[in-house]
This record gives sequence, structure tokens and C-alpha cells, in this order.
Amino acid sequence: MRDKVVLFINGQRHTVGAADVFQPLTDYLRSARSLCGTKVVCAEGDCGACTVLVGRAGASEMEYVPVNGCIQYLYQLDGCHVITVEALAPTLSYGSHDELKAALNPAQLAMVENNGAQCGYCTPGFVMSLSALSYCRSACPAGSSGSQTCSSETDVVRDALTGNLCRCTGYEAIIKAGVASLHGSFKPLTELFDEAGIFAELSALDQEEVSVAAGTRQFYLPTTVEEMSRFLAANEAVLVSGGTDLSVNMNKRGFSPAAIVSTARLKGLATIEVMESTDADGSAGSGKVLAIGARVSLAQLEAYMQNLCPQFYKILWVFGSPQIRHAGTLAGNIANGSPIADSLPFLMLMQAEVEASSFRGVRRIKMSDFYLGYKKLALAKDEVITRIFLPLPGNQEKIRLYKVSRREHLDISAFTAAISVTLGADGKISAARVVFGGVAATVLRMKEVETFLQGKPDVLDTYRQAGLVAVENLRPLTDVRGSREFRLQLAANIFSKFYFETR
Ligand SMILES: Cc1cc2nc3c(=O)[nH]c(=O)nc-3n(C[C@H](O)[C@H](O)[C@H](O)COP(=O)(O)OP(=O)(O)OC[C@H]3O[C@@H](n4cnc5c(N)ncnc54)[C@H](O)[C@@H]3O)c2cc1C
Ligand code: FES
Ligand code: FES
Repeated sequence: MRDKVVLFINGQRHTVGAADVFQPLTDYLRSARSLCGTKVVCAEGDCGACTVLVGRAGASEMEYVPVNGCIQYLYQLDGCHVITVEALAPTLSYGSHDELKAALNPAQLAMVENNGAQCGYCTPGFVMSLSALSYCRSACPAGSSGSQTCSSETDVVRDALTGNLCRCTGYEAIIKAGVASLHGSFKPLTELFDEAGIFAELSALDQEEVSVAAGTRQFYLPTTVEEMSRFLAANEAVLVSGGTDLSVNMNKRGFSPAAIVSTARLKGLATIEVMESTDADGSAGSGKVLAIGARVSLAQLEAYMQNLCPQFYKILWVFGSPQIRHAGTLAGNIANGSPIADSLPFLMLMQAEVEASSFRGVRRIKMSDFYLGYKKLALAKDEVITRIFLPLPGNQEKIRLYKVSRREHLDISAFTAAISVTLGADGKISAARVVFGGVAATVLRMKEVETFLQGKPDVLDTYRQAGLVAVENLRPLTDVRGSREFRLQLAANIFSKFYFETR
């Protein structure tokens, strides 16, 4: 078993061991490698100044995605190639405009020519996100043409930049630069690095287990669920997948677990498969169930859902930012257990099930039984989420999903809702399911409202009354994202919105 993390940075191989693996990538880049082009502002995934590209060996070549370097710890990057802003223009030196033009990559040049920077602190992050559009096949998961969310080049650029904040230039010039860079000719990565050599070496590493110890701290990267489960049973260990929740806790709340175990190398969990439902009660869905592997990123899920389930796709589209979605997973969102987690209302609405695996065996837990209290899960100490079984909506179901937050993108929800209504042949409501988030310690199935809606006429007054029933059964709290009264108002009004949207 290897006791060091191996990664490439801008084409160069690095071996990192002991305490050094327990630091964010940005600390390592800036302090240990003097690669100070990658900036840190928020250190919690919110501003994009630290954006880098991270590549992993795919089936036949390296596959890159943009991520926030500040919340990727080195232990997460074994077997990866990290590309930083320094690598985009390796021959850059001060000179004439023509020399600059020849050396800069199209995103960098477009930022210069369109006055896209003032203080410049955010600029490397913007340049990396724009370069991702060229270097990452999945950078715009929605695709740049014919998608629901990107109907123009400006939309593509805005989408790619939702995870990048600038506090002095103003976005108009940056978006103009972004659109101009779409027409630039980016040097292929094969011209910048020995991509074939890196692919060959990283593919081989992808089979290996890693265990790094430093004093009382330990990191373990197993290749099988059985090994992971035995490690969890024997240690007070914390699981890491994308690290988008965990690393923020480490950076901002001083969380420092003694043992960390990563899902990144578990085999067979990086795919989405369509299966026939084995559920006999037929209460939800189309008979098709998706089996979503625990290592599938939110960005991969977003791309998959675009045509299959547009409502869920839209929720995933406003989830965090591209950098967060490329790192974060659905399994992590479920296990983090926040009552305002954006994927949970839909999962609960569709009566999804979580596959919990350990060396003792495999079991399925209904989403409705998964949360025992605030962030308290029905998972045993040695269990890991391996797959999520998600039934797809049937053609007859009217479904709407809602996220209420102060900004459309990169914001935490104040309130979430998922509503499904099916009408019978008589035009009355024959089945209804309602789930709310942000109104209690866990995401809630609103059984009282469902019972009320059953058999009622599909008219506005029914939905208005459903809102009143919901309010009677809720005791939400006031917090920084919204007052109790605001949340109750939303819970009441969301049904009228559903009514008007489904006409
Ligand atoms: C800037 C920013 C924006 C965000 N925006 C949103 C948003 O819009 N909506 C939203 O809902 N969330 C948001 N989040 C939260 C976070 O991105 C999500 O919860 C994400 O799905 C977590 O996935 P992960 O793989 O990164 O989890 P991690 O951080 O790796 O883990 C999260 C938790 O789940 C556990 N865990 C992870 N994988 C497994 C597994 N396979 N089995 C058992 N336990 C596991 C970990 O031990 C940990 O407790 C945001 C976070 C940041 C930093
Ligand atoms: S420093 Fe702000 S996202 Fe990393
Ligand atoms: S140029 Fe100053 S923050 Fe963007």
C-alpha cells in the first residue's frame, strides 16, 4: 500500500506524504510551490478566485473539470493532474502587444482587450473558468446549444462564471471577454503537457490503495467498499467524497478529524444506470428507476437529467456553482443531511431509496426513514452510501420543484418545496405528494396536505386551502435566511404558484 499521495501539477509529478497531505491544494500551490497565480479570497468555495482544472484518467484520456482549489485537500487529489493559471501561458514575458498576444491564452487575452480586470485578484479564477469551456468536455453540463438554460453565447459564459465573483470590475466587461474567448483558439492540452504520459501513469495509480499517517492523523483511500467499511468500523473516521461540505467545515470551523477515508477510488460507483422498478405498490413514478453511484458528481447528474427530468435538472442547475457541482456528489448532499439541501425534496417526493453498504452486507433505506433528526442519519458506523435509487416521474404526474433563495445561483435556500399531483379521469386529484425543506429539522413529507388534496377538484381554491393546511402543521424557525413568518407565507403561497404553473 502506498503511503504518499501522487499527483501532477502543470505536467510535473509531485509526491506528497505525512502532514503535507492534510492541507488545502491552494496552500500547497502558493506556499510550497510558489504558484501564487491561484488566489484565495473566501476559502469556502464561494468566490472562484482559486479555480483550477483537475483531471482524472477517464476511459481513454484525461478528463478535466473546474473546481475550487481552496476546498480540495491534497489527500483528495491522488491520481489527479492539476492545471493552474500559470500553465496557460507558459512562455509569457513582458513585451510588445504582439508578443503578449502570441503568449496569452484566448481567455487571458480577451480579459486584457476587453478591460476585464481592475484589481485583478479575481482574474485568474475567471480565466480558469473560461478556459474550462475549452478544456473540459463537461464544463457546461447543459451543453452550449439547444439546452434549456443556454440559448446564446452570453448564457454559456454567464453559466460558466456563476461560481466566480468580482467586486470591482463589473460583470459586463468580463462577460464580453468571455464571449470573445469562445472564438479564440486554445492550444490543445497535448501541446502544453505530455497528456499521454500523464494518462498512462495516472491510470495505473488508479488501482492502488493509499494510506498516509501523520502523528495522530490518518488518511485512507481504499479500493473496495469492504475495506472502507472495516476501516470505518475500527476508527472514528469521517468519509469524504467531493469535500464541498467537509472542507468548508475544516477551513472555517476548525474541524480536524483524526481519520479521513475517501470514496474516490471505490469501484463501480461512478455511473448512472436505468433499471426497471421492483416496487410493487406503484404509488410513484414511471416504472423506471435510476441507480446513481455515490461517486457520480452533481454536474454529471445535471447533464443526465437535462432531458430525462427537466424539473430536477433546473434544481441542479442552480445548485452552488459549476466548480461545486463538478466536485460535490448527490451522496454527499444526502449524507450531509441539511434540511435545506436542494436535492432532498425531489428525492423524498419520488420515494427514492439509499443503498447502504458495509462488510456485513447491503440494505436499502427509504428516504422517508433516512433522517432521524437534525443531521442524524439511519446509517450505521460502518456503512457507506453506495447508490441512490431514484424512481422517475410518470407522464401523468404534474411535478414542480422550488428553491427560494436571495440569489438564483450560488446561494443557500431559505425554503424548498416539491409538489406532485396526479389527476383522475374525473378531473379530480387522485394522488398528491408534497415535501418541504427549510421548515423543520429535517426535510418533511407533508402528509396532512396530501390527505387534504386527495379527491379534491383541481381548482385554485383547493390549492389555496392546501396552503392553509400546510401552515397549520408547520413550526418553522427564524434564522439568517428568513423569518418564521416569511417561511409560513411561502408554505401557504407555493400551492397557488403550483396551480398557475401547471395550467
Ligand atoms: C459554495 C458552496 C455552495 C453550495 N451550494 C449548495 C446548494 O446550492 N445546494 C445544496 O444543497 N448544497 C450546497 N452546498 C453544499 C454541498 O456542496 C453539497 O451538500 C454537496 O452535495 C456535498 O457533496 P460532497 O460530495 O462534496 O460531500 P462531502 O463534503 O465529501 O461530504 C459531506 C458529508 O457527507 C458524508 N458523505 C459523503 N459521501 C458519503 C457516502 N458515500 N456515504 C456516506 N456519507 C458520505 C461526509 O462524511 C460528510 O459528512 C454548497 C457548498 C458550497 C461550499
Ligand atoms: S477562495 Fe473563494 S472559492 Fe476558493
Ligand atoms: S478585478 Fe478586482 S475583484 Fe475582480
